[in-house]
Amino acid sequence: MLSRRPRRNRISTAVRELCAETGVRPADLVMPLFIQDGKGRADEIKNYAGYIQIDEGLKDKTASLSYNKDCFYLRSIADIKRRFPDLAVITDTAMDPYSSDGHDGIFSEGGRILNDETLEILGRMALAQAEAGADIIAPSDMMDGRVGYIRNALDNAGFQDKLILSYTAKYASSFYGPFRDALQSAPKHGDKKTYQMDMRNVREAMTEAELDVQEGADMLMVKPGLPYLDVISKLSQSFNIPVAAYNVSGEYAAVKFAALNGALDYRAAVTEILLSFKRAGADFILTYHASEAAQWLTEKA
Ligand code: PBG
Repeated sequence: MLSRRPRRNRISTAVRELCAETGVRPADLVMPLFIQDGKGRADEIKNYAGYIQIDEGLKDKTASLSYNKDCFYLRSIADIKRRFPDLAVITDTAMDPYSSDGHDGIFSEGGRILNDETLEILGRMALAQAEAGADIIAPSDMMDGRVGYIRNALDNAGFQDKLILSYTAKYASSFYGPFRDALQSAPKHGDKKTYQMDMRNVREAMTEAELDVQEGADMLMVKPGLPYLDVISKLSQSFNIPVAAYNVSGEYAAVKFAALNGALDYRAAVTEILLSFKRAGADFILTYHASEAAQWLTEKA
């Protein structure tokens, strides 16, 4: 007779629930939102299926709209915090949606991305977002030294209690397409490979994480999510601060379109994907599936 029968632990729903090692709670989910200047329009974004297009803003070389106090997105944050004071608002801090070059750093004549000059802009943007009421500042640009620079700028302005969620291991990925369509933020020249990470590397992610922790990051993030579960796993085992996964726009589109075409059961597939992030060690997940998934999880409970 077999003495070990692992199937016994899968015998019934009740037993399977007792043995479940991980789970997803609605509170683990972060919903990324795009804000459109208030014209009441709701154009669907190409390749997002269900998401709303934002307007092309007033873009320039230094992304000055991003820290202009009157900018609609900063006013929206203040409105949201007035109406929902308990909500934790996370802001993406990067130049690209406001940059006429579509880059996350200042694009020089010779085509170089200027690191240290960009930090100054990121500092201003982070401060403007904090002043508007953002709780968590999330730099997504991959410039060297941005976490320390932003921490310092926030502290000097009295914002010691604002958190920094660093896009620590952000890879130069093909999965950001629908996001760039939404914000019309694709690079106008070149690509992002001199600052976003090389997809073949994981030690590089460790270096970025070590620096971010030293510079004062409160939380780390890996992005994209599904093709980089190994990186999530490694960072969550190596660092003692929360690690987030960003299940990005192209991952969302892939599942959404497969489901719309009848190739996947949407709810089952999304549940499986969210669990894969938790199993890999992610503490929370930024995902465009968030509101739907939160709904299912609440119904289930
Ligand atoms: C801005 C930014 C990007 C994403 C999040 N912040 C685009 C990029 O770096 O090109 C992508 C998110 C997604 O695809 O869902 N730097």
